[in-house]
Amino acid sequence: MDPIRNPYTPGAGAPPPELAGRDALCEQVRIALERNRIGRPAKSVLMVGLRGVGKTVLLDRMREVAEGAGIQSLRIEAPEGRSLPAILAPELRRALLRLSRNERARDLARRALRGLAGFARVLKVKYRDLEVGIDFEPEPGLADNGDLELDLQDLLEASGQAAREGGTALALFVDELQYVREIELAALIVALHRAAQRRLPVTLVGAGLPQLRGRMGKAKSYAERLFDFPEVGPLTPEAARLALEKPAGAEGVCFEEAALERIIGETQCYPYFLQEWGKHAWDMAEASPITLNDVARGAEVAIADLDASFFRVRFDRLTPSEKQYLRAMAELGPGPHRSGSIAQVLGREVQSLAPIRSHLISKGMVWSPSHGDTAFTVPLFDGFIRRMMPGADWRQP
Ligand SMILES: Nc1ncnc2c1ncn2[C@@H]1O[C@H](COP(=O)(O)OP(=O)(O)OP(=O)(O)O)[C@@H](O)[C@H]1O
Ligand SMILES: [Mg+2]
Repeated sequence: MDPIRNPYTPGAGAPPPELAGRDALCEQVRIALERNRIGRPAKSVLMVGLRGVGKTVLLDRMREVAEGAGIQSLRIEAPEGRSLPAILAPELRRALLRLSRNERARDLARRALRGLAGFARVLKVKYRDLEVGIDFEPEPGLADNGDLELDLQDLLEASGQAAREGGTALALFVDELQYVREIELAALIVALHRAAQRRLPVTLVGAGLPQLRGRMGKAKSYAERLFDFPEVGPLTPEAARLALEKPAGAEGVCFEEAALERIIGETQCYPYFLQEWGKHAWDMAEASPITLNDVARGAEVAIADLDASFFRVRFDRLTPSEKQYLRAMAELGPGPHRSGSIAQVLGREVQSLAPIRSHLISKGMVWSPSHGDTAFTVPLFDGFIRRMMPGADWRQP
């Protein structure tokens, strides 16, 4: 059918035509933000889930809703290798400048901007990547100790006071939080904790891979009590149906029952895969309804596309020994797998593999659902690795 009218949107962070099955989670966050705005206690929300489950599009949607309700927000993504202060400061500045246009908040927002100036000036020494426009002279003693933990507290406190005065709230939307260094995570947790104790309207809505939960707990032991960690997983079969049928229906197109069932089975209801399968089934079909045969032919292209993009970008960042480790995991199936079993496949000692495993965790390729277990963070990655590294060659050192 006409590819121009194809409604499906596979792609990192690409908003789906129908954000299926996430209403309850969106509502949970909306309530938390509104409670926060009126000074009622509300936990910050950190969404955790595997690659491609829709964390980024959820964050964006939640932010849209918050902004629409007049909440001040900022949106950042923690990339590997950059510091939290460096990515936070410019966006916080923009939020504070917007806030300073609010009559009631103006003076306190300007004070927070003076805090930001002091923050940037002293922390630039430690965080060389920290660069931010300076609108005001620093205020001596405000967020300028040179200690991230203290200064971030001051800064979020001053920002929260401004937001409260303006009758609004400040919401920090942060993606890929698992990449933030532990000491910076700790500073963020402390600052949010302080704001919560003072009933200031500052909250975090974060997203990250499943290892995030453990990292937060390691950074500050009380973090697990301070935050909610809703899991974002594959959709239910009903939601997956909706994700496929509704966008097609809007174009006057439907699916054969067997076609839908095939997609649901092959994708295991993972959102990224649903978009990919939907897109290619549509392109294969001559006319409505989309048939089982369309899906079968589309699936081949869908898998090839995933291999070339979604899976590939991850694979290319690995060293040969990391690839070999993942290949050994794939040999055992989708997982999770015991460290001992993986070592056995490789004919090595568990201990000698520990550094490789921990690199894979910090790269966000695998995580540890429980002690001694290792699982892929990318759904269906085992199949991909077997396609990439077929035969027996991979066993060679
Ligand atoms: N609820 C949903 N219903 C249908 N499609 C969805 C849904 N959520 C996400 N998608 C689709 O899934 C794909 C992946 O979404 P997104 O990039 O937000 O995932 P992610 O969890 O952030 O992945 P990563 O961990 O790789 O960053 C996109 O193509 C998006 O359109
Ligand atoms: Mg994402």
